[in-house]
Amino acid sequence: MRIGILTSGGDCPGLNAVLRGFCKYCFNKMGDVEILGFKEGYAGLMNRDYVQLTPADVEGILDFGGTILGTSRQPYKLMTVKEGDAPTKLQQMVENYKKLKLDVLVTLGGAGTHKTASLLSVEGCNVIGLPKTIDNDIYGTDVTFGFHTAVEIASDAIKRIRTTADSHRRVFFVEVMGNKVGWLTLYAGLSSGADVILIPEIPYDEEKLAKFIKDRMGASRSVVIAVAEGAMSKFEASMSKKERREYSAGFTGTAAERLCAAMSQKTGIQCRSTVLGHIQRGGDPCAYDKFISTEIGAFGAHLAEVGRFGVTVCVRGGRLGYNILTDIAGRTKRVPADGQLVLLCKDMGINFGD
Ligand code: F6P
Repeated sequence: MRIGILTSGGDCPGLNAVLRGFCKYCFNKMGDVEILGFKEGYAGLMNRDYVQLTPADVEGILDFGGTILGTSRQPYKLMTVKEGDAPTKLQQMVENYKKLKLDVLVTLGGAGTHKTASLLSVEGCNVIGLPKTIDNDIYGTDVTFGFHTAVEIASDAIKRIRTTADSHRRVFFVEVMGNKVGWLTLYAGLSSGADVILIPEIPYDEEKLAKFIKDRMGASRSVVIAVAEGAMSKFEASMSKKERREYSAGFTGTAAERLCAAMSQKTGIQCRSTVLGHIQRGGDPCAYDKFISTEIGAFGAHLAEVGRFGVTVCVRGGRLGYNILTDIAGRTKRVPADGQLVLLCKDMGINFGD
């Protein structure tokens, strides 16, 4: 069997562990197998830029962050755009898939990667997706690899902020990644004892937030607020996407920086902001991510072996399974605003700014 494999989109801890798990299964169980590792994500498939992976290439990489194959962002919306007579990126990839006589293409990636994987699948390529992202927003899976390491990093950072906030009697806004969803902020905020958790799924009310801060500062030395990068006010949430884009173009700063300035003015209390940024994607995977990545990689190889294509691996209730690519592509798993987790948090007094 001739397999192509690539890592695409934003990196995360666990990519190497998945590659290792996948290759180990293939080399150990499948016998006659060739694995072509495309460099820099879909760009490698477009340019036929690849290395033939050997057992030695994946030896000892379980612990390492990043990806040995490199990655790049290839916006989905540009995949089918035509420039003159040149083939589209999608056509180029389908042609190379055929030229290289691939039996299957395995894509390690997030939401955007899955949309392109789905397109390739519709074009007749045999594709298997493996769910990567610190955002944990891929539809149909309980968890994505990389998510739990990012939770550990963000949670530790928020916990560290507490001691300095306490010392100075300050309000701190700690911005957490997550793109348009709040999973990472919710898990990191809850596990670090944040007083307030602001996520895109639950728009906040500035006046209520200011009142909460003032009341809480009357009773304790600090307020620590975990802010998702995509968090928005009720006012912003009432706008169309276009209106929101135009509205936010008028401001400088990230979600946490803007809130910090606004709350400092409204409350008169010393506020500070910290944007965690890419540190949340760097470094080695945590034990859980090494475990789940290895399992997902090996299961992906199993699906290739049995010829189950046009799917993406998922974890449901602790068991591995798969979803049909075309069913999940373009859908987002969001935090249910009235789900059990959020309601329990609210019952404990965690504020969501609503
Ligand atoms: O999808 C992962 C992610 O880290 C998001 O949380 C974040 O919005 C985005 O990628 C950042 O992308 P880039 O690395 O291209 O700046």
